[in-house]
Amino acid sequence: MADSQPKPRYTPGVVKEEDIVRIPDMKGNVKEVMEVEGMVVPCDVIRSGHVPDMRENVKKIRDMKCRDDDIFLCAYMRSGTHWVWEITNMLTTGKLDYLTRPKESAMMEFHYPEEFDEMPSRRILNTHFPLRLLPTEVKEKKLKVIFVQRNPKDVTVSSYHFLQKGKLMPFKGTFEEFFMLFTTLGLMVSWFDYTLEAEKAIKDKELDIHLIYYEELKKNPVATIKRLSEFLGTDCDDAYITKVAEMCSFKGMKKANEEVKDIEKFLFEKDIMKGHYRKGEIGDWKNMMTVAQSEQFDEIFADKMKDCSFKFDFLK
Ligand code: A3P
Repeated sequence: MADSQPKPRYTPGVVKEEDIVRIPDMKGNVKEVMEVEGMVVPCDVIRSGHVPDMRENVKKIRDMKCRDDDIFLCAYMRSGTHWVWEITNMLTTGKLDYLTRPKESAMMEFHYPEEFDEMPSRRILNTHFPLRLLPTEVKEKKLKVIFVQRNPKDVTVSSYHFLQKGKLMPFKGTFEEFFMLFTTLGLMVSWFDYTLEAEKAIKDKELDIHLIYYEELKKNPVATIKRLSEFLGTDCDDAYITKVAEMCSFKGMKKANEEVKDIEKFLFEKDIMKGHYRKGEIGDWKNMMTVAQSEQFDEIFADKMKDCSFKFDFLK
């Protein structure tokens, strides 16, 4: 039997002809996108009805009422968001249990804010939206923000594999085409702009941000989780943190994803939900990028990030 599509959860959005921007790819296919608050959003995402209409939701998120102990987990896609979300839950609940609900159940672009009203405190809400689109109360009340980042070559390769299986924002072209997309427009927002914006927010002390590097968490999980625990003010001792690190290892999380997570509400992306945990390594980009692509990436990176203080570990 053909794979039937689950019913949309929201009213599918209507996109006006004048809002559509048509972008041709190398093969002459045309992609329809539209601009939403500086992001380049595929029209099909708006029309799908599987996620809220982003045009309305960015406004709702901005005006959202937050709780004083809310935590906002921000990362560009494929930078380790699931990993840090599960760790943070174990730190705040004080329980060594994987949550049955998936990270997507607390993802701001996948819900309207009122859907989080029933969620018990402390809420750990996550998003791939740029930091400027966080609720205004995050800044006003100096709520805790965790910002996770990963070297962008691995983000490129991880996103490519991920979006090939996706339905909401599928990418069916070659890696070469994807490389072009990632280094120019990016995925809704350019990785470079997203990261520079976060760096500025940290420098200007606009937000109460704790920075986590994926590579640091991979190499020194206990020390990195301990620093996160201190930032959150969770009272976890070293023995507990060591257990969190073990349970949230790549192997542990992959198993939990297959055995524990209830993805019923997210069946529209079931292949993606099942395949979230791919390799979990530093430097996998070397298996995909050609030397020429890597050098081209280095050039773009050197130019766009020349004033950036973040230090990325590419495992060169
Ligand atoms: P790969 O595709 O390189 O394997 P996000 O959660 O932001 O979507 O990021 C997904 C990436 O984080 C995937 O990268 C995934 O395998 C990796 N990841 C998830 N849990 C991990 C863990 N416990 N240890 C290392 N990497 C992990």
